[in-house]
Amino acid sequence: MPKPQRHVFVCTQNRPPAHPRGSCAAKGSTAVLQALWAEQQKRQAYEGVSITYSGCIGPCDQGANVLVYPEGVLYRGVTPEDVADIFTSHLEGGQPVERLLAPASVW
Ligand code: FES
Repeated sequence: MPKPQRHVFVCTQNRPPAHPRGSCAAKGSTAVLQALWAEQQKRQAYEGVSITYSGCIGPCDQGANVLVYPEGVLYRGVTPEDVADIFTSHLEGGQPVERLLAPASVW
């Protein structure tokens, strides 16, 4: 397996209903993960991009959260409709999607 240029972590943490921290799963992160995998397949972007689900990465109230390395870019409030932009602008073009960036106070 070649070393990916970028590694995407999608928080799919789940918690019981009414848990005070909420969760990214409750905010639709599983659909985001599926959309990312589908977009990867559509673009056949298997060599440069790795996509992995993860547990909680911190700012649960901002979810669905997506973290991209090596830059350490945190996207918040991500929906499946944002996935094409993330691929085109960031994962392939190297430019983070400004409108989805978590504020500095979060990250
Ligand atoms: S549940 Fe996703 S960041 Fe905490």
